[in-house]
Amino acid sequence: MKGLKTIYVCSECGYRSPKWMGKCTACGAWNSFVEDVLEEEKKTSAGAARHALTARSGEQRATPYQELEMPSYIRTATGLAELDRVLGGGLVLGSVVLLSGEPGIGKSTLLMQISDILGAHRRVLYISGEESSGQLKLRAQRLGVRGDNLSILTETNIEKILAEVDRVKPDVAIVDSIQTIYSDSIASTAGAVTQVRETALALINKAKADNISVILVGHVNKEGSIAGPKILEHMVDAVLYFEGERQQTYRIIRAIKNRYGSTNEIGVFEMTDEGLCEVQNPSEMLLAGRPQNTSGNCAVCTMEGTRPLIAEIQALVSATAFPAPRRTSNGIDYNRLCLILAVLEKRLGLRFSANDVYINVIGGMRLDEPASDLAVAMALISSLTDRAVPDDLIAIGELGLSGECRAVSGLEYRVKEAARLGFRRAVVPCRNLEKRQLKAGIELIPIKSIFEILKLLSPIDKKEMQ
Ligand code: TYD
Ligand code: MG
Repeated sequence: MKGLKTIYVCSECGYRSPKWMGKCTACGAWNSFVEDVLEEEKKTSAGAARHALTARSGEQRATPYQELEMPSYIRTATGLAELDRVLGGGLVLGSVVLLSGEPGIGKSTLLMQISDILGAHRRVLYISGEESSGQLKLRAQRLGVRGDNLSILTETNIEKILAEVDRVKPDVAIVDSIQTIYSDSIASTAGAVTQVRETALALINKAKADNISVILVGHVNKEGSIAGPKILEHMVDAVLYFEGERQQTYRIIRAIKNRYGSTNEIGVFEMTDEGLCEVQNPSEMLLAGRPQNTSGNCAVCTMEGTRPLIAEIQALVSATAFPAPRRTSNGIDYNRLCLILAVLEKRLGLRFSANDVYINVIGGMRLDEPASDLAVAMALISSLTDRAVPDDLIAIGELGLSGECRAVSGLEYRVKEAARLGFRRAVVPCRNLEKRQLKAGIELIPIKSIFEILKLLSPIDKKEMQ
């Protein structure tokens, strides 16, 4: 076609190149170039229009810090406390949130639910480029949506969407999903890097200009990055990831970026027949059905932002049939597992190298914190020696390369949560108790190094198991 030109765009930084490249010369990302088309004549006019959009009227001068004014953010609670916690208190008017997650995880369900709650006191426009209005109505009925102040638009053309936003004048606009939206002025197909970037930019400008909260849904590709340009993450005010195992019912929302709040908080939901329900007590949920008197299990308390969460780690160590033993890790960083195995092998002389090792964190939880090292080590030793970690015991601590147990943050909150859930003893780093004593309502077993945990394991009562 005349006037169309194929270019390659880096999906990480947006760098354009006439040729495909294995490595981006601008940001150094590997294998990030995707094909895109440019309409040559319109390129300049679109560029000029864009420039006009972003250019500010008048000259900008630097302002002395003391003269800067505090902005007044108006927040709207979404009505789901778990989501509000992640957002830092609710949606900020004029801000743009990107909600991403794998297909089928429940993004549309969550957004339909909050549209209904928000509709009680705000005007909401739900724009869907993926489902027909009939499908949306069916889902909404299932979720028991009343739909006050809620308008639905099934449209993928950005120009028409913006016109409708002007007409409806919503307080909150939801776009499901940004990959389906296209602009007439750009030649490439919907979902291409340029389309996603330009349509998102138009929506962001609209949000800022009209003081609308916009929620964009972004699909995630196999590698876990938001499909299309990663630059979308830089453009929006907050990026939320919706994750969880599709086979399981738990769903976790994490903030990856938040200009108006902390990125440490998580929100926990459960997918039910009536949509997503908040889980106010996730520790209890994660501990449900815990096996008693078996080897290879250990409980740990991890901090997710300000909230302590009890998780259960399971290990299985079995004789290998391969020259190179297998190490499989689910929920714990693979390299961290290898490091803990090496420490146990070297410092305690335990022979893991002749065994396959499998680690799993129950409930699809991901433990990123080093504070779970000790519990991983105890689960591994327990499985290897076939001795049980007592059911009323929890282990918290980071493991150093010399086998020493290092201090962790927030120990007080962790042991309190353990006490609340019925644990009676907690193995904790000695160093945490050096400066101040903890009143935890639970017996604390301070340890200096990994050598001391062997004596805490007890033989399994085989009779009790049958
Ligand atoms: P959906 O919100 O369509 O996912 P996404 O928008 O992220 O692609 O969620 C789809 C899944 O959720 C689907 O597999 C069925 C399940 N589901 C329930 O279990 N209960 C419900 O009430 C609803 C509406 C969906
Ligand atoms: Mg969807």
